[in-house]
Amino acid sequence: MSGPTATPSGDHLEIKDSRTGKTYTAPIVDETIRTADLKQIKVNADDFGIMGYDPAFMNTASCRSSITFIDGDKGILRYRGYPIDQLAGKASFLEVAWLLRRGELPTQPQYDQFVEDVTYHTYVHENIKHFMEGFRYDAHPMSMLGASVAALSSFYPTAKNIYDERERDIAFIRLIAKMPTIAAFAYRHVKGMPYVYPDNALPYAENYLSMIARMSEPRYEANPVYAKAIDILFILHADHEQNCSTNAVRAVGSSHVDPYSAVAAGIAALYGPLHGGANEAVLRMLHDIGDVKNIPAFIESVKTGKGEARLMGFGHRVYKSYDPRAKIVKALCDDVLKIAGVGKDMEIALELERIALSDEYFIKRKLYPNVDFYTGLIYRALHFPTDYFTVLFAIARTAGWLAQWEEMLLDKEQKIARPRQIYTGSPEREYKTNLDYKHKITK
Ligand code: CMC
Repeated sequence: MSGPTATPSGDHLEIKDSRTGKTYTAPIVDETIRTADLKQIKVNADDFGIMGYDPAFMNTASCRSSITFIDGDKGILRYRGYPIDQLAGKASFLEVAWLLRRGELPTQPQYDQFVEDVTYHTYVHENIKHFMEGFRYDAHPMSMLGASVAALSSFYPTAKNIYDERERDIAFIRLIAKMPTIAAFAYRHVKGMPYVYPDNALPYAENYLSMIARMSEPRYEANPVYAKAIDILFILHADHEQNCSTNAVRAVGSSHVDPYSAVAAGIAALYGPLHGGANEAVLRMLHDIGDVKNIPAFIESVKTGKGEARLMGFGHRVYKSYDPRAKIVKALCDDVLKIAGVGKDMEIALELERIALSDEYFIKRKLYPNVDFYTGLIYRALHFPTDYFTVLFAIARTAGWLAQWEEMLLDKEQKIARPRQIYTGSPEREYKTNLDYKHKITK
């Protein structure tokens, strides 16, 4: 922003400060003004200057990013320019993970090497296994995942050399490789079943399903439809630009901590019911409805706000015409249910969807099924417990978190994330205690 006398060339905002009568101009670049520039607007020379107030970052761009593009009104989602439906239809999750980080699709030798590297690093240190054995029988799988990924940082201390590209390479490979192993160990722990080691002859999704389901058979052969569904779901969840957990990874990573610790912060953010927990909520809602005949009463309670019920799996902060991922997952859901059979949950979900899509309340508010309306149904059909759903999300999102973390790190404009506040507390006052300390410290 220029002072009152400067005249910038190009598009700009003019801001008149009614307190002083001065007019300021702020350049507009990419439909954005820099809030830091507002600091120059002040009444007295020693004032801090004007700040932007934006709780929950409703209208603040925190970075420039070339990874993921979303147009919520048009229902567009692209990774590095590639439409999500093309990637889900033709690419593998590992190819997408490479693309997100590197910005271009891998060549055949690059892809082969990456697959080999990831496969080689699927095992975790035995002490991680012992560490996980220490969790209680009813530990939430997201708690186990978050704690174990944070613990990985202690196994790879050189990962803190974040400006060494080789360290970033190996951390990326290790995290993509080990996340399914830790996730599967968490699953087996809750079930009280022995942990299954990776089978490195299997592709990524098949290996994960083997670690989940294998019992005494020498080699687990996953149903190809289920393995394909898992791989596609991983692609759909791999990144979603500046969402809550990605913002957490960037903010924590901006302190220059190692990537294992930054990703653990992302897992903690994803654990929350307003973020990764929505597909879990869909299944709980279907369970509460219980029967198709109860749907009209449930819809009515949503519309009247009775009990503050929401139709979980409907609506999105960004997508206001449709969620492009939902279309793909719905087709996937059909494929899986052809094999797994249509259970009661699915019957209720389909009827709920049919009624909601023709109801004026939902049409007027642009409430369409989002990705989570269907993912929970697929996970249920694959017999994953409801509180495990978010773990599947975390395996996939690791690719996006790491791509975004590295982009933040190499961005010369970024610094340690440190927002400002508007202080609303008490003015200065004198300390006088009412407590009678047993062991008083005399000063
Ligand atoms: N069921 C019933 N009414 C709804 C719903 C819903 N699912 N979502 C929004 N509304 C209504 C809301 O009551 C409000 O109505 P009114 O204008 O009469 O007050 C209007 O629609 C706008 O709602 P909002 O809360 O301002 O919208 P938002 O953009 O802040 O919320 C949302 C987006 C996703 C939090 C919300 O739609 C919601 O709670 N949906 C259910 C939870 C869910 O499925 N979450 C998963 C999102 S996808 C996850 C991902 O992308 O990672």
